[in-house]
Amino acid sequence: MRPDSLYTMSRYVDLRSDTVTQPTQQMRDAMASAQVGDDGYGEDPTVDALETRFAAMTGKEAALFVPSGVMANQIAVRVLTQPGDVIVAGRSQHIVSFEMGASARNSSVQFALVDDTNGALALSEVLDIIDAEVDHQPHVAMVSVENTHMPSGGTPWDLNELRALAGAIGERPLHLDGARLFNASVATGVSVKDYADTATTVMACLSKGLCAPVGSLFAGSSELVQRARTERKRLGGAMRQAGFLAAAGLVALETMVDRLSEDHRRARQLADLFAGAFPEAGYDPSSCHTNIVAFNHPQARQIVEELSALGVHGGTVAPRRVRFVTHVGVTDDDVQYVAEVLEKFRPVSR
Ligand SMILES: Cc1ncc(COP(=O)(O)O)c(C=O)c1O
Repeated sequence: MRPDSLYTMSRYVDLRSDTVTQPTQQMRDAMASAQVGDDGYGEDPTVDALETRFAAMTGKEAALFVPSGVMANQIAVRVLTQPGDVIVAGRSQHIVSFEMGASARNSSVQFALVDDTNGALALSEVLDIIDAEVDHQPHVAMVSVENTHMPSGGTPWDLNELRALAGAIGERPLHLDGARLFNASVATGVSVKDYADTATTVMACLSKGLCAPVGSLFAGSSELVQRARTERKRLGGAMRQAGFLAAAGLVALETMVDRLSEDHRRARQLADLFAGAFPEAGYDPSSCHTNIVAFNHPQARQIVEELSALGVHGGTVAPRRVRFVTHVGVTDDDVQYVAEVLEKFRPVSR
């Protein structure tokens, strides 16, 4: 039994997602004084500056500021596929499982799914699906990867493996969902540009660990980004004085990348704590390289519910898979509190 005192604590350690982050004071100041214009006319200098910056960081010819990561992925699908095409992707990737069927709805494409339990795609499975075109199976228009790969626990791609995949699929487009690309880069030391070099199109989110209030970036060749601009408009994502948001995005890129290593350090501490508290889960804490702790447990939802009652808020990303995410709002003191909670915690048997 847990002590009653724990139930009455008003502590709130928010490990649900890095999307709960708040804009920093520097972002708020930059937003207040941002120079803006109508981006529909291409007249917003702050949006231009952000797009130019991301294009340079990724080594791509051009970039586009979009309202969300989902829209960036959906634009990639719109510019790289035709109705009836196949996208090869990992079974648990965001573009497959967490976008409400958007690729089917928006672009009339279907997925061919491969194993991504550990984050990377099984190369032989990818190549078999492409090879099946010879056997009268649908055209594979693109391959999609996620870096870091959220459901496996924020796993960063090994650059050589990603290069091997990109090389093996040849001219076929590769889309890189880099919602947490900066986490991957900080964890591995691989530059954002080296990761992006493997891909035809790349997106990154500003509104997760980087703390900007809104927005993602999409980059690729000038021709693809010009088409992406049209698709953004079609999807209702063209914005007007969006420089107010882009200003926060620029501060995010300038000031919030290096500190992600702190989130990674705390996540690793939490990984050790959760592995110790739930040995039956068989979770290997050394698999936690960035800011996400995720593991399977038969009582996943119950654990999340009961820990929430104790002020430790996480979530589930699949029926028996729990997830806890660190971000700038999670302190060393919070980790210590989680340690104290987990020391006494046992799920109530039901
Ligand atoms: C891997 C991945 N891709 C895309 C997205 C979508 O980003 P947004 O919430 O900005 O639409 C997320 C969001 O959590 C994500 O984790």
